[in-house]
Amino acid sequence: MTRSRNINLSNQSTALKSLFTGYLVVVAIGYMMALVQIQFTHGMADGKLGLSTDDIVYSYYGKRSGSVIESKLNGSMKAMAPEEERLKIINWVRKGANEKQFHSQGIRQIVDNRCIVCHSKTSGMPLPDFTQFNNISHVAETDTGASFSSLARVSHIHLFGIAFIFMFVGLIFSLATGVPKGLKAIVIVMPYIFLIIDIASWWLTKLNPHFAWLVIIGGGSMALSFAFMWVVSMYEMWIMPRIREDNRNPLLDE
Ligand code: HEC
Repeated sequence: MTRSRNINLSNQSTALKSLFTGYLVVVAIGYMMALVQIQFTHGMADGKLGLSTDDIVYSYYGKRSGSVIESKLNGSMKAMAPEEERLKIINWVRKGANEKQFHSQGIRQIVDNRCIVCHSKTSGMPLPDFTQFNNISHVAETDTGASFSSLARVSHIHLFGIAFIFMFVGLIFSLATGVPKGLKAIVIVMPYIFLIIDIASWWLTKLNPHFAWLVIIGGGSMALSFAFMWVVSMYEMWIMPRIREDNRNPLLDE
């Protein structure tokens, strides 16, 4: 009798199993919604559907190669101003897009002559209005990805929220009998380790784009351990035969 356990998933009352099941189902739907949301917020960052390391780099590290205005002036807006004026704008942007120099270096003049035909409210086109300095300054910013304050906010919400979810998922799973003890402990603790790795990798990616792959490993491993605990718990509650208390669990016989 030493190895028989009265507390296990398969012989819980239907009421408790229903409670566990309701929780697991809702959390699984929540998990899927989170994955959908990631596709929308990060998945499109590189302009292509689907999450890639580029998306993660753009989201956390940013596109440091330059500002929107510079890339446009080298792209679709190239023909809008003569070479000399174009380079003047780019030069001003690279030097920090300072408002004082905007006027003193004649950038205002160039923009008024070349750009606001289209880039103003009166043009009727849905484009940023370059009669306002703010809108120019906005497209002249270098994209440095997520800000530290938004990272801090999302990090603490994730740490608290996800730790809470895995507390209950892990608690339910801990009553499973069909998984060897060592593996069980590993599976239960894994999400916490990968949660920390995942969050840490956001910050590391913000500092260095080479860490983007760590974000994918952290998030992916967390999802894997979630799926494993979910499937085993559901199986033991509803498919595996009940373990009779006067009987030894055949699964525990070695
Ligand atoms: C003939 C009309 C026209 C003129 C003149 C024009 N643009 Fe544009 N601009 C557009 C259109 C249309 C778009 C949107 C399509 C695109 O991004 O290529 C755009 C987009 C942009 C964008 C991207 C805005 C965003 O938020 O994505 C920037 C930056 C920009 N233009 C800068 C300039 C500058 C600087 C000049 C002057 C040297 C200029 N444009 C002159 C029509 C114009």
